[in-house]
Amino acid sequence: MNILVTGGAGFIGSHTLIELYKAGHTAVVVDNLSNSNPVALQRVAEIIGVPEIPFYKVDIRDREGLEHVFAEHKLNACIHFAGLKAVGESVEKPWEYYENNIGGTLVLVDVMRKHGCKNIIFSSSATIYGDPVEIPITENCPKGQCTNPYGWTKSMLEQVLMDIQKADPEWNVVLLRYFNPVGAHPSGRIGENPNGIPNNLMPYITQVAVGKRKELGVFGNDYNTPDGTGVRDYIHVVDLANAHVAALKCFTNALTHSHNNTFIYNIGTGNGYSVLDMVKAFIRVNGVDVPYSIKPRRAGDIATCYCDPSKAKAELGWQAKYGIDDMVRDSWNWQKNNPDGYPE
Ligand code: NAD
Ligand code: UD1
Repeated sequence: MNILVTGGAGFIGSHTLIELYKAGHTAVVVDNLSNSNPVALQRVAEIIGVPEIPFYKVDIRDREGLEHVFAEHKLNACIHFAGLKAVGESVEKPWEYYENNIGGTLVLVDVMRKHGCKNIIFSSSATIYGDPVEIPITENCPKGQCTNPYGWTKSMLEQVLMDIQKADPEWNVVLLRYFNPVGAHPSGRIGENPNGIPNNLMPYITQVAVGKRKELGVFGNDYNTPDGTGVRDYIHVVDLANAHVAALKCFTNALTHSHNNTFIYNIGTGNGYSVLDMVKAFIRVNGVDVPYSIKPRRAGDIATCYCDPSKAKAELGWQAKYGIDDMVRDSWNWQKNNPDGYPE
C-alpha cells in the first residue's frame, strides 16, 4: 500500500516508516515539524536504503496543502500520528490542543474522503481509560474521565472517527490505544527527542544518565503497587511500529463494507513495570548510574496501568517481541549517541 503518514517525522512515526518499508509498503509524510526535525527523515531513508522519503512540510489544518499532497499521490490509507502530546502544556493551552488535534483531524478526514481514501489508523492512548475500572485493561473497559485536554482530544477523536464510520461504511477505522512507548531503533540513529524538560519517565532517565539532568524525581512511592511506585505497560517503539503494519490487515480483510468496520486494539506488552523496575533495569543493563530521589505524587497520575493485548494477537497476529532489557538498552543507545538529539 501507499500510505499517508501524518506526523511521520516524530518519534513513533519515524520508527513506523522503517517497518512499513520493510514490509513492502511505501509512504508519503506530512508533518509541520512543530515537534520534530527533518534529519529524522533523512536517517530513516538511510536505514531503509532509499534516496529519500517523500515529505511535505504541511500542517494538517491546511486544507490546500493536503489537497496538493492527494493530487500528487495515489494514497490507499492514512496512519495519523500528527498531534500535540504534552499533557502539562495541554492544561495551559487547551484551545491550542483542541484546535490542532481535533481541528486538524477534521480537515484531514474531510480531504481523505473527498479523494476516496477512507482507511485510517489513529494514534489513541491508554489515557482514554482514565483511572481504569479493570486491570489488565481490555478493550471492553469503559472509557473514563481524562484529567487533561490532551487526553480528551484522544477520547473525542475516537468518537468522531467511530461516528464517521457508522454513517459511511466505506470507512475503515482502526483505533490503536498505545500504552507507554519507549526505546529506539536498534541502530541508535533515530529516537525520542523531547523539547525542554522531558515529561515522561524514559527520556528523563536517559537525560540523567547522560549528565544533562542531576537526578530523576520519582513521583510517589506510596501507591498500592509492589514497591509503591507507579506501574505502567512500557512497549518498545519498534514493536509499536509493527503493530501499525499488522493493523493494515484491517483494510485488506475488510472486503465487505460494514457499519462495524471500526477496529479497536490495546497496544502494549501486557506486563506492568514500576518506576523503580525501570530505573534498576536501566542501571543493570547499561552499567550507568541514575541518581534518583522520591518526590510527591504527580497530579493526575494513577497507580497501575497495563493492558491485556490478546485481542491484537488474535485478530492482527501481532504481539510485542521486545522486553524491558531491550527497551532500556535501545533508549540509552540512542541517547548516548545523540546527547543533544538531532542536529539543528
Ligand atoms: P511526536 O511529537 O514525536 O510526533 C508527532 C508529530 O506530529 C510531530 O512530528 C509534529 O511535528 C507533528 N504535528 C503536530 N501537529 C501537527 C499538525 N497540525 N500538522 C502536521 N504535523 C503536526 O509524538 P509521538 O510520540 O511520535 O506521538 C505520535 C502520536 O501518538 C501522537 O498523536 C500522540 O498523541 C500519540 N501517542 C503518543 C504516546 C507517547 O507516549 N509518545 C502515547 C500515546 C499516544
Ligand atoms: C503519560 C501521559 C499520558 C500518555 C502516556 C503515554 C501524563 C500525566 N500522562 O502517561 O497521557 O498517554 O504518557 O506514554 O503525562 N515518572 C516519574 N518521574 C518522572 C516522570 C515519570 O516518577 O520524571 C513516573 C510517573 O509518575 C508514572 C511513570 O513514571 O508512574 C510513567 O510516567 P510517564 O512516562 O509520564 O507516562 P504516564 O504517566 O503513564
